[in-house]
Amino acid sequence: MAVQLRLDKFLADMGIGTRSEIKSWIRKGRVKVNNIVVKKPETKVTLDDDIYFDERKVSYQKLVYYMLHKPAGVISATRDNFSQTVLDLITDKKRKDLFPVGRLDKDTEGLLLITNDGELAHQLLSPKKHVDKVYYAKVKGVVTEEDQRAFQEGVLIEDNYRTLPAQLTILKSDSISEIKLTIQEGKFHQVKRMFLAVGKEVIYLKRLSMGPLKLDEQLQPGEYRELTENEVLQLKNR
Ligand code: URA
Repeated sequence: MAVQLRLDKFLADMGIGTRSEIKSWIRKGRVKVNNIVVKKPETKVTLDDDIYFDERKVSYQKLVYYMLHKPAGVISATRDNFSQTVLDLITDKKRKDLFPVGRLDKDTEGLLLITNDGELAHQLLSPKKHVDKVYYAKVKGVVTEEDQRAFQEGVLIEDNYRTLPAQLTILKSDSISEIKLTIQEGKFHQVKRMFLAVGKEVIYLKRLSMGPLKLDEQLQPGEYRELTENEVLQLKNR
């Protein structure tokens, strides 16, 4: 028997929208299966069914996932006229519709997920989902327990914006300190701005993990590999 999956899941996997948006669109009659309007999101479909959203055919596309060890000097974009992008580093692209999940600054290294799975990207990036991101950094100046407390309470990185509580682990406290920081947000230059808020400068930054996905230390900067099935499942089920 052909593999069956829920209509709302099929559309979410194809990146049409979030699961809750899709449910409401289905209930409003915007989706047809084999030329018939279907209003139940839980309806089972197979990959052979003809599925239309707002009169547009939604074909099944394979979802692919790569873990890239982003090197410094490369930008987190799909294309750019001047700089090398993270997608230029994926040389055996299985799909053309790939994008990076979130952004790392040009000078930041470390874990970057590259995929064509819009639904998963939304789940990982939505501020409401509180996905832990762990960074390692070298910081100019002596990082103290006071900084730890400040980060735990949240620091002001804009006139009106206080960060969510963040866990700061001090690995080395010296004129150049080394730390690990866990945050659940992804504001522009967030880690650098958090340290600026306590009067210190990040001079090296590397992302170690995102939710359950950890950077494979076998990967040198610039190298990548596909995620294992287990890694994909862990990300989806978090
Ligand atoms: N915080 C930053 O400041 N830069 C990054 O690239 C990621 C998080």
